Amino acid sequence: MRGVVKIINPYDAGVFPEGDVILLSSNENPYEPSEEVKKAYLESLQKINRYPDTSYPALKKAISEYLNVETENIAVGCGSSELISRAFDVLVEELDKVAIPMPSYSLYLTYAMLRNSSLLLPIFKNYALSSDFFEDEKPKLSIICSPNNPTGNVVDRKIVERIAESSEYILIDEAYAEFTKKNLLDLIHEFENVIILRSFSKFFGLAGMRVGYAIARKEIVEALEKVRLPFAIPTPSVATAISAIRSLDYYIQLREKIIEERERVFSELKKLGFEVYPSETNFLLFKAKKAVFEKFLENKIVVRYLNGLIGLEGEFIRATIGKKEENDKLLRILESSIASA
Ligand SMILES: Cc1ncc(COP(=O)(O)O)c(C=O)c1O
Repeated sequence: MRGVVKIINPYDAGVFPEGDVILLSSNENPYEPSEEVKKAYLESLQKINRYPDTSYPALKKAISEYLNVETENIAVGCGSSELISRAFDVLVEELDKVAIPMPSYSLYLTYAMLRNSSLLLPIFKNYALSSDFFEDEKPKLSIICSPNNPTGNVVDRKIVERIAESSEYILIDEAYAEFTKKNLLDLIHEFENVIILRSFSKFFGLAGMRVGYAIARKEIVEALEKVRLPFAIPTPSVATAISAIRSLDYYIQLREKIIEERERVFSELKKLGFEVYPSETNFLLFKAKKAVFEKFLENKIVVRYLNGLIGLEGEFIRATIGKKEENDKLLRILESSIASA
């Protein structure tokens, strides 16, 4: 086996307890799919004896209309996770400099290591990036997550532009784009080296279907499409993703509820005395000890406990915004854990 595989940490997806639990650990959308999406799923079952069209024209057309970009600028994959891996495959040679500002999403490290790249992990407190580091290092690939997981903030557009000017390629992971008004999609018209990464797992609530996409200039898209698994996205996943775009109004309504709840939980956490990060996503990050995480588990709420993440000193909990009653329960447990501390 390759030596590097032995030192790569497995992806930490948190805990998945059995039974009736409230899942607030993976930043999923807590609501059911629209009726149209359920119907599209069922109808697609008629076709599962056939392979999907591996160039996914209908899915690309739907994404193209959703975002007003040309289909030739869209690559699709089995979740945006697959496209992170493929981006490394097509862009990064051994010992190329890959800059991944920290703290951020851990999956980037796995693929950067697999390519034997020269890893640069600059730490920016609260993920408040500045461009000097990138201007000095001139990385082959820089990976920016905006809004960032786990800090929840967006990166200033001017800074991203400077990073784009200093890097050969820049991958901008916008898995949470629909939860902010400050997305960076139009940078693809300004820069030839920008790749925007998006997901159906968060805003569109299709985490279990595994659909993601990248938007970039045609040559990069062709390269990504060439190396991804043929038939990477199953037929029911394609059908539900297209249908979710057609049910956009339904998902916009859900987003309004989620954002309203996020602001409520944010101010309640502050009132309770927690140090909580402002967020433009569907989750909140706050300082809390392991005992609090355990108390949640005892009460059948699963959140993510973060300790020892590069660039995030101390112990934290990252909690996805759930339905109102789920968030109420989360707050009640926090209140009682303070009272009993
Ligand atoms: C920042 C970020 N990028 C990518 C992903 C992966 O998403 P997908 O389900 O599209 O593979 C996640 C999932 O949590 C994420 O937080």
